[in-house]
Amino acid sequence: MQTQPLKQKQSRVSELIKSRVSLAPMAGITDYVLRSLVRRYSKNCLLTTEMISSEFLAQVKETEISKIDDNHHPINFQISGHKPHLMKSAAEFLSAKADMIDINMGCPVNKVVKGQDGCALMKNPSLAADLVQAVKEGTDKPVSVKFRLGYTSDAMNYVEFGQQMQEAGAEFITLHARTRAQFYGGHADWAKIRDLKRNVDIPVFANGDITTIEEAEKCLELSEADGVAVGRASMGDPTLIYRIEHFLATGERLPVPTLEEKICMLKTHLDEEINLRGELFGIKFFRKFYACYISGIKNAAKARGALVTEENYDEIIKILNKILKTT
Ligand SMILES: Cc1cc2nc3c(=O)[nH]c(=O)nc-3n(C[C@H](O)[C@H](O)[C@H](O)COP(=O)(O)O)c2cc1C
Repeated sequence: MQTQPLKQKQSRVSELIKSRVSLAPMAGITDYVLRSLVRRYSKNCLLTTEMISSEFLAQVKETEISKIDDNHHPINFQISGHKPHLMKSAAEFLSAKADMIDINMGCPVNKVVKGQDGCALMKNPSLAADLVQAVKEGTDKPVSVKFRLGYTSDAMNYVEFGQQMQEAGAEFITLHARTRAQFYGGHADWAKIRDLKRNVDIPVFANGDITTIEEAEKCLELSEADGVAVGRASMGDPTLIYRIEHFLATGERLPVPTLEEKICMLKTHLDEEINLRGELFGIKFFRKFYACYISGIKNAAKARGALVTEENYDEIIKILNKILKTT
């Protein structure tokens, strides 16, 4: 294995991405509202949509997932699937809005890998390469791939796989440093990412378990990656990506939001989900976010329990105000 870093070419991706932090795609999470909230703080980070199934897109031809604002650029649209012609059509359809098209090669969920999508593609690199080529036929925008270390710990083919995707025409990689078998267990192995980084000459963003500025710093040191992709930690703190980005650019550590600021962000997030989805559905949709915003407070489990069962907006606000008064 080559040990010296390859000199990275000045690419159109490095022109496009002005920030060393991106928002990792999360189905049901990185919707229009969360992307807009993250953008309020970080003007430059690469946002990523939730994964959009190419099969689904072929049937409906429009989806709420693809709703964006002008300020969402640069934005990467992630698509999933395993049929080259459908992936090409999805890329054609999304190309007008997207700055980049990402192919999901890391999703570990059973029903996804059973259908040969997501991380199953790591077991079939030639099909994965065909998909990269098909997507490139559908768009003139850069094509990126997001994958894991491998399917299992005995099959960690991420270096070779990354080289194959680069060879097929991928211009950017996000690597989640876990295997498919790990799902979300254990800890992301950031040091492994360095093996990939040293063996491809396209930008690599490291992903997995980055929740603080310090973890981002450590991850970059171990991985030698060009940047980091932040997923779950953005759910209760839309400022995190900006704070990491600002630290990497200036060395200044902006403070973690106070509880008061977090509750204020929570209310904005909830209000905007309601604007998008209607009151009852918006309130129900938002339930997955409460725990993230209030984690660490005294009696968080009890407060969360009250919030996730409440359907009345005014009562939710009362609970939130009580949290502020009593914490
Ligand atoms: C609820 C949820 C949904 C996700 N959906 C996607 C997805 O649609 N596409 C994808 O490539 N990864 C998806 N991921 C994986 C994340 O992008 C990321 O790789 C993973 O959460 C590790 O990063 P983190 O520790 O910063 O969250 C999802 C993760 C979660 C928790």
